[in-house]
Amino acid sequence: MSGSSLEFSIEAGGQLSGTVRVPGDKSISHRSIMLGALADGVTRVSGFLEGEDSLATLQAFRDMGVRIDGPDHGQVVIHGVGLHGLRAPDKPLDLGNSGTSMRLLAGLLAGQSFDVQMTGDASLSRRPMRRVTEPLSTMGARITATATGTPPLQVHGGQLLHGISYQMPMASAQVKSSLLLAGLYAQGRTCVSEPAPTRDHTERMLQGFGYSVERQGSTACVTGGGRLTATAIDVPADISSAAFFMVGASIAAGSDVTLSHVGINPTRIGVINILRLMGGDITLLNERTVGGEPVADIRVRAAALHGIDIPEDQVPLAIDEFPALFIAAACARGTTRLTGAEELRVKESDRIQVMADGLQVVGVTAMPTPDGIVIEGGSIGRGVVDSHGDHRIAMAFAMAALRASGMIEIQDCANVATSFPGFVELAQRAGLRIALAG
Ligand code: S3P
Repeated sequence: MSGSSLEFSIEAGGQLSGTVRVPGDKSISHRSIMLGALADGVTRVSGFLEGEDSLATLQAFRDMGVRIDGPDHGQVVIHGVGLHGLRAPDKPLDLGNSGTSMRLLAGLLAGQSFDVQMTGDASLSRRPMRRVTEPLSTMGARITATATGTPPLQVHGGQLLHGISYQMPMASAQVKSSLLLAGLYAQGRTCVSEPAPTRDHTERMLQGFGYSVERQGSTACVTGGGRLTATAIDVPADISSAAFFMVGASIAAGSDVTLSHVGINPTRIGVINILRLMGGDITLLNERTVGGEPVADIRVRAAALHGIDIPEDQVPLAIDEFPALFIAAACARGTTRLTGAEELRVKESDRIQVMADGLQVVGVTAMPTPDGIVIEGGSIGRGVVDSHGDHRIAMAFAMAALRASGMIEIQDCANVATSFPGFVELAQRAGLRIALAG
């Protein structure tokens, strides 16, 4: 998939059925490359997400002299260079659409001996970076951004970093991870406290690479000067990609879908909790642990959903799933209210505004608020929705067609390839009447 003119057109109706394995977890895929590159020895990854975002991370490490074989059907072999083995790239690192790559790399690169510039596409170039550059600078890092704190970022190497204790003002796994990665290079202990639980893949994976992480309550600490030892990583399917099928199956009468080998890390399962609160019919099967991460097959059957006030403690646990959940709310009986989710305004797009606009186009009453949205459930009509190049907005509206009264067309869908290569084909196989246009 390429070209910003890429459009989806989806015929109304249908149902989802069968067993679906969605691609690998994006967050875990990024981290597997980063830690594998910095480890001593050879790390073998399976289930790697061959999406543009995680491939941007992979390319960045190749540009810094790391030999990486693959990806080949999700298999990647990383020949680690050790914590101090990276080389200066001979051009800026282009991180495309990927905020995770840029924010985590800001921390990781702050401790190197060389300078690096990091750039991104139009969306990434609008995203706030002070949330990482400010605490990193208190550790001794020197990173310059634009006057408004956005990319490109210039990381000046050769700085001596020292550990800090940092209380994050927002619940962000990217900020936490960025500081912990800088902490690997810092003198002393780096501790990060979060106002609410966020995904803990960095902490789990560091431990998997033999690096000690002290975790107490809402605080995670690392002490600089250790080493990472290569390991094997089995990346589970991404619950954030599975979420579109979970919502699609919930809203489309007669649906019965099993999503296989999905990561169900407790810091990621807000979408399951929220759909269940709305009356969703979701069963976890074959729960197991794979490489330090909990995994299950998730069976979802159609259900009569009802609107809810979404508990604020679920927001960080479902932060990437709200575009899909808003479609569930649009199909539910009654009103759904989301609060405490201002972070949605600084994702790949302003997901509150863009979703509200799209819902209104297809005839759903949706009122944006500064930190959330109020959605009146009812019927979905037809129309042309602008995804604003946001992968998750595009996939969410694709699922809305299952309950629409007519054709749904979605513009600017090329970025679906950042997180979900093969979405159209997989969705077709499951029963969505989706086609590419444009
Ligand atoms: C991510 C953390 C989240 C999430 C993003 C991936 C990560 O971002 O939205 O898609 O891999 O750490 P924030 O930390 O900004 O909430």
